[in-house]
Amino acid sequence: MSTSDLKQLLYTINLRPKMETDIPWLRAHLAEEWGGEPVLVRKHAYFPSELPGFVAVMEGPGRKELVGEVTYSIEKHVCEIVTLSSLHEQMGIGSALFNYVETIARAEGCRRLQLITTTDNLNAIGFYQKRGMRIVAVYPDALEDVRKQKPHIPRIGMNDIPLLDELRLEKRLA
Ligand SMILES: CC(C)(COP(=O)(O)OP(=O)(O)OC[C@H]1O[C@@H](n2cnc3c(N)ncnc32)[C@H](O)[C@@H]1OP(=O)(O)O)[C@@H](O)C(=O)NCCC(=O)NCCS
Repeated sequence: MSTSDLKQLLYTINLRPKMETDIPWLRAHLAEEWGGEPVLVRKHAYFPSELPGFVAVMEGPGRKELVGEVTYSIEKHVCEIVTLSSLHEQMGIGSALFNYVETIARAEGCRRLQLITTTDNLNAIGFYQKRGMRIVAVYPDALEDVRKQKPHIPRIGMNDIPLLDELRLEKRLA
């Protein structure tokens, strides 16, 4: 039995809407993983701590911790996933968060679900395509603009890939 199977036997993971009390955790997480707020999505600066979202809570013997989050913004029938992350990968947390936000987007009458990611994030690019999202645009050198506001963004990203370009992925819902 794998470690992740064992963890699943001992812990339960539940999703719930993000609450005011989650904001300190979310801000710390964003500072660590996303270069802090705001999160820049093309020309738009989002503050995930102020956006609607869901968190994943892992509960087990003597332990209760936040292990995932998704934040989104709905405008003109388009749902933008601004952040989505899982602290314990390959246990279904990312999929559950993605499914939740897709359900909300459909319920709100959105025509599409979309997001921006960087080209080094091979795991996320695969993850989203397997969940029905298509690559619809490539933004070469997009990170140069991001670094004007966030100079601390590293030059080398995940998988030792230079952190240069962004991709837009979208899923048509209608
Ligand atoms: C991309 C990301 C959100 C995926 O989250 P995750 O929690 O690993 O996602 P899941 O566990 O739901 O799914 C990942 C894979 O594990 C598999 N999996 C799920 N539960 C499993 C289990 N119990 N045992 C084995 N595999 C399992 C899923 O089937 C999935 O495989 P697939 O994509 O081939 O279908 C995560 O890697 C992440 O947070 N990355 C950093 C932040 C980021 O890049 N966000 C995206 C940019 S917006």
